[in-house]
Amino acid sequence: MPTRQPIVSVLGHVDHGKTTLLDQIRGTAVVKKEAGAITQHIGATEVPIEHIYAVCKQMIGSKKFDMPGLLFIDTPGHQSFTSLRARGGSLADLAVLVIDINEGIMPQTLESISILKRFKTPFIIAVNKVDLIEDWTVNKDEPFALNVRKQSDKAAASFDDKFYKIIGELYEHGYTADRYDRIEDFTKSIAIVPISAKNGIGLPDLLLMLIGLAQRFLEDTLEKEEGPAKGVILEVKEERGLGQTVDVIIYAGTLKKGDTVILGTKGKPLVTKVKAILKPKPLDEIRDPKDRFDSVKEVSAAIGVKLMCQSLEGVVSGGPLRAAGANPDEARDEVSNETKVN
Ligand code: GTP
Ligand code: MG
Repeated sequence: MPTRQPIVSVLGHVDHGKTTLLDQIRGTAVVKKEAGAITQHIGATEVPIEHIYAVCKQMIGSKKFDMPGLLFIDTPGHQSFTSLRARGGSLADLAVLVIDINEGIMPQTLESISILKRFKTPFIIAVNKVDLIEDWTVNKDEPFALNVRKQSDKAAASFDDKFYKIIGELYEHGYTADRYDRIEDFTKSIAIVPISAKNGIGLPDLLLMLIGLAQRFLEDTLEKEEGPAKGVILEVKEERGLGQTVDVIIYAGTLKKGDTVILGTKGKPLVTKVKAILKPKPLDEIRDPKDRFDSVKEVSAAIGVKLMCQSLEGVVSGGPLRAAGANPDEARDEVSNETKVN
């Protein structure tokens, strides 16, 4: 059974390090140039499984997983973007909640957790910025499981202080969580992976925990869904040389050039045609914006792409996309209903 890649949303309070984490995941790939090209999709980063093998080599040796990779979605942490976070949460198969170890639980941390609970999205917590702990020994890209053993008593004590404060706060809010390497029953506790997004510490542990989570919870949901595309609108953007474009995440089905699509607007759904599907090139080829994309005939979930359409009038970020397929009325009703909900 062909499986699609899990969609992994990254959520958390503003400035806690979500984008840096994704930069680091992409960056390592570009610098090291190992097997499999890392592609940066719009608002989304595709991480092929070969890359995960390379990053996690120290921890897994030559072990392989039955999964094509992970599609990461970055969300904004600023308080005014609740609806985008909710969208990110709603289309996610899995999530990473990022918490700055020095700041602890903040309002959008709690908001993110409640979004994940609402959509029943399995998630792990990345406690970030461990490199800022006084006297912390930073070894770039090191698994946390190794890095933590190299710390001085002082650094270790300071880490434990901050870390267990966060666990305590989570507990007060009704969540049982612990360091991932200390959990015996993963169905009872939320796993926390300490990381430094800036230095890549803990990235191998984090990626492996995500794969573990996918294997535990997603076996049935990752079968490739045939049929017309379903997606979410990330952003409508004026692109130099291209005019108005729309960035979307396709989370189910297949989208073809020429497809009639129905898009969410503030009013009645917009029915339009896809003129071009633009797939971002690997990150290291991004130079002139005009060369950044490959124009392709079709794409299948899960993927982030930029679309040129006949019209994009009134289209709203966070709104739904449906390809009309054989049942345009049904598709339009779906878009209508989803737009109302949000
Ligand atoms: P929003 O998207 O606005 O919610 O923020 P974000 O969560 O994406 O945070 P971002 O990645 O932009 O990081 C915010 C700041 O924290 C930047 O200055 C980063 O360089 C810094 N930062 C992120 N991760 C780390 C880390 O692991 N260590 C250190 N020292 N700084 C970090
Ligand atoms: Mg960010």
